[in-house]
Amino acid sequence: MTKKEKIEKLIVRAQEAQKKAYVPYSGYSVGAAVLTSDGDIFDGCNIENASYTPTVCAERVAIFKAVSEDASSIDAIAVVAGEDMGFPCGVCRQVMREFASEGLEIIVAKNKDEYECYHLEDLLPHSFGPENLKGGEHV
Ligand code: THU
Repeated sequence: MTKKEKIEKLIVRAQEAQKKAYVPYSGYSVGAAVLTSDGDIFDGCNIENASYTPTVCAERVAIFKAVSEDASSIDAIAVVAGEDMGFPCGVCRQVMREFASEGLEIIVAKNKDEYECYHLEDLLPHSFGPENLKGGEHV
Protein backbone atom coordinates (compact mmCIF):
# COMPACT_ATOMS: atom_id res chain seq x y z
CA MET A 1 0.00 0.00 0.00
CA THR A 2 1.38 3.44 -0.92
CA LYS A 3 1.59 6.22 1.63
CA LYS A 4 -1.27 8.00 -0.15
CA GLU A 5 -3.45 4.89 0.09
CA LYS A 6 -2.66 4.55 3.79
CA ILE A 7 -3.69 8.17 4.37
CA GLU A 8 -6.91 7.67 2.39
CA LYS A 9 -7.74 4.55 4.39
CA LEU A 10 -7.27 6.44 7.64
CA ILE A 11 -9.46 9.31 6.43
CA VAL A 12 -12.23 6.91 5.42
CA ARG A 13 -12.12 5.32 8.88
CA ALA A 14 -12.33 8.79 10.44
CA GLN A 15 -15.34 9.59 8.24
CA GLU A 16 -17.07 6.38 9.32
CA ALA A 17 -16.45 7.22 12.97
CA GLN A 18 -17.71 10.78 12.42
CA LYS A 19 -21.14 9.35 11.60
CA LYS A 20 -21.33 7.94 15.13
CA ALA A 21 -20.62 11.27 16.84
CA TYR A 22 -22.95 11.98 19.76
CA VAL A 23 -23.38 15.74 19.44
CA PRO A 24 -26.84 16.84 20.66
CA TYR A 25 -25.45 20.14 21.99
CA SER A 26 -23.01 21.44 19.39
CA GLY A 27 -24.20 19.56 16.32
CA TYR A 28 -20.50 19.50 15.36
CA SER A 29 -19.47 15.96 14.42
CA VAL A 30 -15.84 14.93 14.50
CA GLY A 31 -14.20 11.65 13.57
CA ALA A 32 -10.64 10.50 14.05
CA ALA A 33 -8.60 7.43 13.20
CA VAL A 34 -5.17 6.54 14.50
CA LEU A 35 -2.59 4.24 12.96
CA THR A 36 -0.49 2.58 15.65
CA SER A 37 3.14 1.60 15.26
CA ASP A 38 1.94 -2.03 15.20
CA GLY A 39 -0.14 -1.24 12.09
CA ASP A 40 -3.54 -1.33 13.77
CA ILE A 41 -6.22 1.32 13.25
CA PHE A 42 -8.50 2.62 15.99
CA ASP A 43 -11.18 5.21 15.39
CA GLY A 44 -13.28 7.49 17.55
CA CYS A 45 -15.96 10.16 17.48
CA ASN A 46 -16.72 13.04 19.81
CA ILE A 47 -19.12 12.24 22.63
CA GLU A 48 -20.90 15.12 24.33
CA ASN A 49 -22.62 15.35 27.68
CA ALA A 50 -25.52 17.38 29.10
CA SER A 51 -23.12 18.58 31.79
CA TYR A 52 -20.81 19.81 28.97
CA THR A 53 -17.38 19.36 30.61
CA PRO A 54 -17.36 15.53 30.40
CA THR A 55 -17.45 15.89 26.60
CA VAL A 56 -14.59 14.06 24.92
CA CYS A 57 -13.10 14.88 21.54
CA ALA A 58 -12.90 12.33 18.75
CA GLU A 59 -9.10 12.36 18.73
CA ARG A 60 -8.87 11.43 22.38
CA VAL A 61 -11.47 8.68 22.05
CA ALA A 62 -9.45 7.14 19.21
CA ILE A 63 -6.11 7.51 20.99
CA PHE A 64 -7.40 6.14 24.29
CA LYS A 65 -8.99 3.19 22.53
CA ALA A 66 -5.59 2.42 20.99
CA VAL A 67 -3.71 2.84 24.26
CA SER A 68 -6.21 0.74 26.19
CA GLU A 69 -5.65 -2.02 23.63
CA ASP A 70 -1.89 -1.98 24.28
CA ALA A 71 -0.73 0.22 21.41
CA SER A 72 2.77 1.45 22.17
CA SER A 73 2.65 4.63 20.10
CA ILE A 74 0.88 6.23 17.20
CA ASP A 75 2.38 6.93 13.79
CA ALA A 76 -0.50 8.88 12.25
CA ILE A 77 -3.90 10.35 13.07
CA ALA A 78 -6.54 11.57 10.64
CA VAL A 79 -9.23 14.02 11.72
CA VAL A 80 -12.42 15.02 9.94
CA ALA A 81 -14.57 17.70 11.50
CA GLY A 82 -17.80 19.43 10.60
CA GLU A 83 -18.15 20.18 6.91
CA ASP A 84 -14.71 21.67 6.45
CA MET A 85 -11.22 21.09 7.82
CA GLY A 86 -11.05 21.30 11.58
CA PHE A 87 -7.80 21.29 13.48
CA PRO A 88 -7.37 19.30 16.71
CA CYS A 89 -7.89 21.27 19.90
CA GLY A 90 -5.00 22.02 22.25
CA VAL A 91 -5.89 19.29 24.72
CA CYS A 92 -5.88 16.66 21.96
CA ARG A 93 -2.54 17.94 20.67
CA GLN A 94 -1.10 17.41 24.14
CA VAL A 95 -2.53 13.88 24.28
CA MET A 96 -1.00 13.16 20.85
CA ARG A 97 2.31 14.40 22.27
CA GLU A 98 2.14 11.78 25.00
CA PHE A 99 1.74 8.82 22.65
CA ALA A 100 3.38 10.06 19.45
CA SER A 101 5.95 8.04 17.55
CA GLU A 102 8.88 10.03 16.19
CA GLY A 103 7.48 11.89 13.17
CA LEU A 104 3.79 11.49 13.99
CA GLU A 105 1.70 12.65 11.05
CA ILE A 106 -1.46 14.60 11.72
CA ILE A 107 -3.80 14.54 8.75
CA VAL A 108 -6.43 17.25 8.83
CA ALA A 109 -8.97 16.24 6.22
CA LYS A 110 -12.06 17.53 4.50
CA ASN A 111 -12.39 14.27 2.60
CA LYS A 112 -10.07 11.63 1.19
CA ASP A 113 -9.00 13.86 -1.68
CA GLU A 114 -8.63 17.11 0.24
CA TYR A 115 -6.36 17.03 3.24
CA GLU A 116 -3.26 18.59 4.78
CA CYS A 117 -0.48 16.80 6.67
CA TYR A 118 1.30 18.27 9.65
CA HIS A 119 3.88 17.13 12.13
CA LEU A 120 3.27 17.49 15.84
CA GLU A 121 6.03 20.09 16.07
CA ASP A 122 4.02 22.27 13.63
CA LEU A 123 0.91 22.18 15.79
CA LEU A 124 2.51 21.99 19.24
CA PRO A 125 5.90 23.71 19.20
CA HIS A 126 8.11 23.90 22.31
CA SER A 127 5.97 21.24 23.92
CA PHE A 128 6.06 19.69 27.35
CA GLY A 129 6.20 15.90 27.40
CA PRO A 130 7.17 12.70 29.20
CA GLU A 131 10.93 13.38 28.96
CA ASN A 132 10.48 16.44 31.16
CA LEU A 133 9.40 14.22 34.03
CA LYS A 134 11.64 11.19 33.57
CA GLY A 135 13.09 9.90 36.82
CA GLY A 136 10.60 11.51 39.17
CA GLU A 137 13.37 13.64 40.71
CA HIS A 138 11.67 16.98 40.56
CA VAL A 139 10.42 17.49 44.09
N1 THU B 1 -14.13 18.49 19.19
C1 THU B 1 -13.45 17.36 18.83
O1 THU B 1 -13.99 16.26 18.81
N2 THU B 1 -12.13 17.50 18.50
C2 THU B 1 -11.45 18.67 18.50
O2 THU B 1 -10.25 18.68 18.32
C3 THU B 1 -12.18 19.92 18.70
C4 THU B 1 -13.54 19.80 19.26
C5 THU B 1 -15.54 18.35 19.56
C6 THU B 1 -15.84 18.56 21.02
C7 THU B 1 -17.29 18.97 20.97
O3 THU B 1 -18.10 17.81 20.96
C8 THU B 1 -17.45 19.66 19.63
O4 THU B 1 -16.31 19.28 18.86
C9 THU B 1 -17.52 21.16 19.73
O5 THU B 1 -16.44 21.67 20.44
